[in-house]
Amino acid sequence: MRKAKIAVLVSGGGTNLQALLNAQEAGILQSGEISLVISNNPDAYALKRAERAGVRHLVLIGRDFEARLENILRGAGIDLVILAGFMRILSADFTARWPNRILNVHPALIPSFCGKGFYGLRVHEAALERGVKITGATVHFVNEIPDGGEIILQKAVAVLPDDTPETLQRRVMEEAEWILLPQAAELVSKGVTAS
Ligand code: GAR
Repeated sequence: MRKAKIAVLVSGGGTNLQALLNAQEAGILQSGEISLVISNNPDAYALKRAERAGVRHLVLIGRDFEARLENILRGAGIDLVILAGFMRILSADFTARWPNRILNVHPALIPSFCGKGFYGLRVHEAALERGVKITGATVHFVNEIPDGGEIILQKAVAVLPDDTPETLQRRVMEEAEWILLPQAAELVSKGVTAS
């Protein structure tokens, strides 16, 4: 059976990309294959991870970002786009062209601590400020509303009394993001190849 062709969009460390690559290696992700990694940050460590795994990777910055992104994705025959720590909001025009074909991982239990301005460490700072005792991660489809698309998977993670934003971020990644994102990638890839 054919595999869904996946592009992963990144901006930073790329631990979620690594989780996807590991899942592919382990056969957890088997209905899709990571064929392309695109970074909007030339210094993203995620690029090194792609290189090490032998996956085609490129940096995309500057004018006409979305038009060029669209061309690259279509040219590569991409079926599914995964935002894995991609720190740029895609326009309504762009997301409308990829209905149920873009996934995002968010480091909180949507609808808490999400939307514009809630990304990376800021999400965990906000959770600690609010004093929640449970947080987690969400994988969802991407539509025109930031963090507003249909929820695919969620997992709760405990907040501990002495947590800092950094320790909480790490626990949410380890206990939720790195598990959920490959599971969701498999789930959606399976659907893509069956359609
Ligand atoms: C992850 O925690 C991811 O959920 C978050 O940024 C981090 C990227 O880490 N994404 C967002 O906040 C998007 N709204 P990584 O580069 O090591 O995967």
